[in-house]
Amino acid sequence: MRQYRIRGQNRIEGELCVSGAKNAVLPILAALCLNESEVVIHNCPRIADTFVSIEILRDIGCKVSFVGNTLTVDASGDLKHNIPDDCVTKMRSSILFMGAMLARNGRVNLALPGGCKLGARAIDMHISGLESMGAIIKAEGNRLYCEAPMLKGEEIEMHTVSVGATENLMIAAAKAKGETVLKNAAQEPEIVDLARFLNGLGADIRGAGTSTIVINGVKRLCPRDSHRIMPDRIVAGTYLVAAAITAGEIKLTGACPRDMLAVISGLKKMGCRVLTTDSTIALQAPGRLLALPRLVTEAHPGFPTDMQAQFVAALSVADGRSTLRETIFEKRFSHAEELRKMGADIVLSDNKQFFTVYGKKTLYGTTVEAHDLRCGAALVLAALAAEGETIVTQAQHVERGYEHIEKDLAALSANIRVESSAASSEQPYLSLVAG
Ligand code: EPZ
Repeated sequence: MRQYRIRGQNRIEGELCVSGAKNAVLPILAALCLNESEVVIHNCPRIADTFVSIEILRDIGCKVSFVGNTLTVDASGDLKHNIPDDCVTKMRSSILFMGAMLARNGRVNLALPGGCKLGARAIDMHISGLESMGAIIKAEGNRLYCEAPMLKGEEIEMHTVSVGATENLMIAAAKAKGETVLKNAAQEPEIVDLARFLNGLGADIRGAGTSTIVINGVKRLCPRDSHRIMPDRIVAGTYLVAAAITAGEIKLTGACPRDMLAVISGLKKMGCRVLTTDSTIALQAPGRLLALPRLVTEAHPGFPTDMQAQFVAALSVADGRSTLRETIFEKRFSHAEELRKMGADIVLSDNKQFFTVYGKKTLYGTTVEAHDLRCGAALVLAALAAEGETIVTQAQHVERGYEHIEKDLAALSANIRVESSAASSEQPYLSLVAG
């Protein structure tokens, strides 16, 4: 296994170009299966989840090449309808292949998805939405067997705002017979990027980025030249917090500040000076951050749940008492216990949804464990601010969503390196599928 070794209290300063968005590329790699020709994707991040998706695409019969950050996928051949279990159990967004494969082949079998342990992470709306469009889905053991001779357009109201269900149903509807209307749809920027990609292939999708999306199914999608993945707003937010927590300053290029208004507003309330243009964000941190009396995670355009852990880390060293409420996932609190090991004073409510953070002047280096992707990111941030040396174990969780975070932070003056922990037989996943 790999771990990060970080010696804290270096100011983060410098400039960084933001990578392509993990949560945009994953649905787009699934949607590629709708297209029976070659597509080129630019600005594709070299992160573990991209390689899992590539493994699925290759396994079902697509030809894939990945050079630098440019991915070329030819999905013109016959595609198999069985998604490999080891990929699906590793990554929740594998479920997005359901809509794409049903629309392409009329059949798909896959295991129930895995991913970060953030709570129930139900998939009832994925299944009920596809069934309302005519799919027949049977669960046997931990596998789903799905058939859809012909998907038909339908009006679907989702009971909860769900990014994945919105994406899965939008992909399935792109080639369904007739019109589909998705109500109470998620409005995340990654959904807008997916719609832009599908419309670039000749789909007819309107309203992405609002709570009602209308999709008129088309018979065939036409080949297109290429698509450029949007910047990753969570990676961008994480690096802004890296500067904020170390009284540093940073300039992000290739960013999209208009996708990050709630995060930028939070950082300003914590005393940071933030200047933006269309594609850059410049942050100058105060000597010590101010506490946030109240912060609530919400669906976009509210404050993103994927930045919650990183803000808890920053508020752990802010001046004063902060409260934070997690409303999206019922179990997104594993970072609290780990931050406490570093001296943070964090009190969780009985239902683990409310955090009260009493800011401390200093955190102290020790060994902590990344339980999931954003927990790991938060611990790296806390380590940058802590006195002494911190070891963040289980680094593979962080590598799912951050392209060489250790190189980026070292280039911004952090004292960080990645190393193997006790010798282990397991191959780093990336080395298995790099290509
Ligand atoms: C996406 O996950 C993101 N992942 C998550 O990012 C992000 O935290 C989440 O959206 C919310 O913004 C990707 O895009 C690959 P949801 P997703 O369906 O689609 C409930 C990260 O750190 N729900 O919007 O799985 C569900 O249990 C990851 O990058 C149902 O009840 O999230 C949850 O409580 C973590 N039934 C809520 O909706 C369903 O059928 C929101 O989940 C589907 C979801």
